[in-house]
Amino acid sequence: MCGIFAVVNDKSNQAAQTTLIGLKKLEYRGYDSWGIALIPEKRKKIKVEKHIGKIGQAETKLPNGNIAIGHTRWATHGGVTDRNAHPHLDCKKEIAVIHNGIVENYKVIKSNLSNKGHVFKSETDTEVIAHLIEEKSKKVPIIKAVFDTFNSLVGSNAIVVLDTNTETVLACRNGSPLVAGIGNNQFFLGSDVPAFLKFTNRVHFLHDGEAVVLSKKGVKLYDLKSGNEKMLNAQILDWKMEDAEKGGYQHFLLKEIVEQKNTIPKTAKINKPALKTISEKIRNGYKIVMSACGTAYYCTLAAKYFFAQLGTESETYGSYEYLPFTKFANKKTVFISVSQSGETADTLIAARAAKKQGAYIVAVVNARGSTLERLADSTLSVGAGPEIAVVSTKAFTAQLSTLYLLAHYAINKPEKGISKIYQLGKSLEKWINTKLFTQITKLAATLINNEDLYLIGKHLNYPASLEFALKIKESSYIHSEAFAAGELKHGVITLIQKGTPCFVLSSNDEAKDEVLSSAAELKARGGKIIGISPVKSAEFDFHIKTLDLGDLTFFPNVIVGQLLGYYLGIGRGTDPDKPRNLAKSVTVK
Ligand code: AGP
Repeated sequence: MCGIFAVVNDKSNQAAQTTLIGLKKLEYRGYDSWGIALIPEKRKKIKVEKHIGKIGQAETKLPNGNIAIGHTRWATHGGVTDRNAHPHLDCKKEIAVIHNGIVENYKVIKSNLSNKGHVFKSETDTEVIAHLIEEKSKKVPIIKAVFDTFNSLVGSNAIVVLDTNTETVLACRNGSPLVAGIGNNQFFLGSDVPAFLKFTNRVHFLHDGEAVVLSKKGVKLYDLKSGNEKMLNAQILDWKMEDAEKGGYQHFLLKEIVEQKNTIPKTAKINKPALKTISEKIRNGYKIVMSACGTAYYCTLAAKYFFAQLGTESETYGSYEYLPFTKFANKKTVFISVSQSGETADTLIAARAAKKQGAYIVAVVNARGSTLERLADSTLSVGAGPEIAVVSTKAFTAQLSTLYLLAHYAINKPEKGISKIYQLGKSLEKWINTKLFTQITKLAATLINNEDLYLIGKHLNYPASLEFALKIKESSYIHSEAFAAGELKHGVITLIQKGTPCFVLSSNDEAKDEVLSSAAELKARGGKIIGISPVKSAEFDFHIKTLDLGDLTFFPNVIVGQLLGYYLGIGRGTDPDKPRNLAKSVTVK
């Protein structure tokens, strides 16, 4: 939650404009408000610009200067107002602070500082950081004041501090993501790489307990507890600027949905040594326990069916519900944590708890350099590239195809899994085309004024329905609810009236006939039946034909939901890349 950006020694001497470019790439992390602080040329007083709402096409009127910091906010403490927008300043306006996280002990700090005469302008927890640094810097150099302040904060946090006196940017990390970019004589900080990818792909992902100081001379890395300087070994990422651009599409969401024809088959080329290591453990009797949140949780639910089909038992938990079951994890558990960002607070809590019990932790992640990756014993980095839309699509399918491959490695049949995933990629390549888009936009037009949609599916199509429904909710704000087909007669059927849109997801499999019987029951109650299936049926009032790929029909069935959510969102005037109230990574409990 919240996006952080900083530039030092900006070559164009337009650091505020550069910061705005960076923030536009980070807006998916929070869009309640945005703000920039800059040290203007030849002046010591910081200039600040803040606005509520999305950054969109915004421009900044801040003057020239080569050092600035900026922030996009997902509000936690204090309402969505200009005053609460970051950056926040100290009393003398010589220190500006931006922050991602929650300072759990901010009330005590605020009251101590108020007693010392500090005046607060916002309701945020962040503002106390600026004043505490100011207070401490009366006695010690700024670097020590920042480190001591950060070490006294309780909670998961990342802060970036702009100091006018030393003309430096100081940043500290504990629990919230932060990455430094080392360009050609200009230096950057971001919550995520796309923020500065236009300028450099040479990066250092800060670990918890690390700090960096950016000056005109370069980037120095420190250990926060000891204050000692550490060796900085930057890495070069293979990400290209196009990965973080819309590339002619109106929205990232649509671009990322279409990219799946490439990102899914790519998973069959990567991670081979790690898949081998993990699968050996499974074959040696380790029990698989999976955990994740939201879309990533639905990924684990689908993976549970894939494992079961091939004869391997597994369990999965929403990470937020895992703690009562932690006691069953032990040294013979392979604990698979699935997370696009690798920063989801509940997912990390569950993984840490399992690790404490001795479990072998596997991170199935898309973003690079994440906390989850660092705490894991083994990582399956699914390689879908930057996923900018808040609604997860390509990361989800890349994670699921990776787990599909793991299920095959686990029974020592990797080649079969690999060839099926390649085949899936080829089929998607042909199927995702104008004809499909036309059909889905037609369907969207008929549903645009509905406020309730229902979905049913059985076996693999049950998690497919859950994910399909979530995409509709996130992208279009239509209430859509998925049920296991078998649940229908146990209460759900009361919801169906004449004309209620009912989606029926099916594959050409053993569950098909049962699902179609459920569809007939819905139709008999007046339900309008929309079939998402490779096979046509008399029960369907509207049919979107998907691909007949056995268990892998899961993928096209879900892609229909992704596209339908997108087009419904467009039709209803939402911003499909930035749904209201959501953030890309949920770093708070
Ligand atoms: C996906 O569309 C959602 N925005 C959300 O459910 C997401 O999957 C969830 O918050 C988990 O995120 P993660 O994969 O980064 O852990």
